[in-house]
Amino acid sequence: EPLKILVFSASLRTGSLNTQLAKLAVRVIEENGGLADYADMREFDCPSLNQDLEVDDFHPDGARELRKRILANDAFIIASPEYNGSMPGLLKNVIDWTSRFRPQPFNEKHAMLMSASPSMAGGNRGLWTLRMPLEHLGTSVYPNMFSLAMAHKAFTAEGDIADETLAQRFRTNLFAFMSLVEAAKNYPCIKKA
Ligand code: FNR
Repeated sequence: EPLKILVFSASLRTGSLNTQLAKLAVRVIEENGGLADYADMREFDCPSLNQDLEVDDFHPDGARELRKRILANDAFIIASPEYNGSMPGLLKNVIDWTSRFRPQPFNEKHAMLMSASPSMAGGNRGLWTLRMPLEHLGTSVYPNMFSLAMAHKAFTAEGDIADETLAQRFRTNLFAFMSLVEAAKNYPCIKKA
């Protein structure tokens, strides 16, 4: 059975660099025999978290959709912008809302993080902050993160990474993640207490 991976970009912006990177991930997953489930961040966007809203089992549609898509796939990939050295508030907001289901869907899942930015660090600092809520929730976050520096100049017209060494590194990272997720089907993650 092919591996199923949810891939989403945490940017709402038209022409987002992270969306371009997420779409490349989709292509590479399919090249490697996997099934990629691409999602647009607009499907997951939620109102600001307010616990006063949490009456009668209320969960916003965006969180319901993210829960459904996480559970329908073997793993998920987030391509996220870095805002002020950290993860975007809207992404944290969606994660917080989605963590309110019981059981919460992040537990025992595998994730890979990637970022794209016009800067030289490629938005990598933001990914370290994104690890925190995910690991807190019991997601096994892949150690290798991929950050595309100078991303506004990094893509070819066809949407691949222009630098061949970097394009190959992207594939190697993604294939290694896919192998791990495949192998882990037989070895479930440690349950969070
Ligand atoms: C940014 N940007 C940014 N980039 C970066 O590498 N480190 C940072 O700390 C920040 N901080 C930051 C704060 C805010 C509020 C904005 C709006 C932007 C720039 C950011 O990387 C750039 O706009 C990307 O193009 C955003 O990703 P998408 O939308 O192209 O996927």
